[in-house]
Amino acid sequence: MTATIIDGKAFAARVREQVGEHVSRLKADHGITPGLAVVLVGADPASEVYVRSKGKMTVEVGMKSLEHRLEADTEEADLLALIAQLNADPAIHGILVQLPLPKHLNEDLVINAIDPAKDVDGFHISNVGLLGTGQKSMVPCTPLGCLMMLREHHGSLSGMDAVIIGRSNIVGKPMAQLLLNDSCTVTIAHSRTKDLAEVVRRADIVVAAVGRPEMVPGDWIKPGATIIDVGINRLDAPEKGEGKTRLVGDVDFASCVDVAGAITPVPGGVGPMTIACLLANTVTACCRANGLAEPEGLTA
Ligand code: GUN
Repeated sequence: MTATIIDGKAFAARVREQVGEHVSRLKADHGITPGLAVVLVGADPASEVYVRSKGKMTVEVGMKSLEHRLEADTEEADLLALIAQLNADPAIHGILVQLPLPKHLNEDLVINAIDPAKDVDGFHISNVGLLGTGQKSMVPCTPLGCLMMLREHHGSLSGMDAVIIGRSNIVGKPMAQLLLNDSCTVTIAHSRTKDLAEVVRRADIVVAAVGRPEMVPGDWIKPGATIIDVGINRLDAPEKGEGKTRLVGDVDFASCVDVAGAITPVPGGVGPMTIACLLANTVTACCRANGLAEPEGLTA
């Protein structure tokens, strides 16, 4: 069997198109332009790339993009003052503080200073609690993108066995909550899990989010299972020339593609969905802030 390749790039383009249509309606019917503020502290090169890409796509769907770049040695009080200012600004509907923050800043404190209604990352403790109790919340972008792809491929996920490898606050834990809310039987595996191969072999759905290149081989996969590969790992690729690199996921694509029923590629799978879901969350936050109907199909 050769797996269906789930095309995240094409799916993300459709999500952005839907967001763009909703933004046009908000402008035309209500005179409202959704605004997203991104805060970057320091100059981490990977974060710079993400932030530039987020800004470009925000503008492409017709929203307002504001970037705040702060020095790496910014004091916590100054960052908190900026967040308070963005919380109070009615033209800003979404606030994202790019992680990781420099070591001297308390990440939990900073994230929990964001107004939960503007927390388009879904990292604020109150959004985490709302998601965990099945209430309306802002949902973290990467797990939301994974859920959208799973629902698109399967329709209902009810009763499926899902194994998530990785227990991070950004992906593993919220992914588990979302799949539980969709009536999957959920297992969260991690570095201390005994006999990971056996656990993964039970899964109808495997979500790999550990950050270890090509860790999951094809012989761990139940025939026909759906694999969502969240990993983005950069490896040296001397075969492509000196200094060249290539991106791989947490799953060994070459061996898994012959066993799985469906699989997301890296690149072109989960990655593009993350920014599309950030834009979706921003338009959702804008609608909620203005007491308007939310776009359908863009929330969990
Ligand atoms: N750094 C890497 N991924 C993310 C993300 O999804 N949100 C934020 N705020 N920072 C990140």
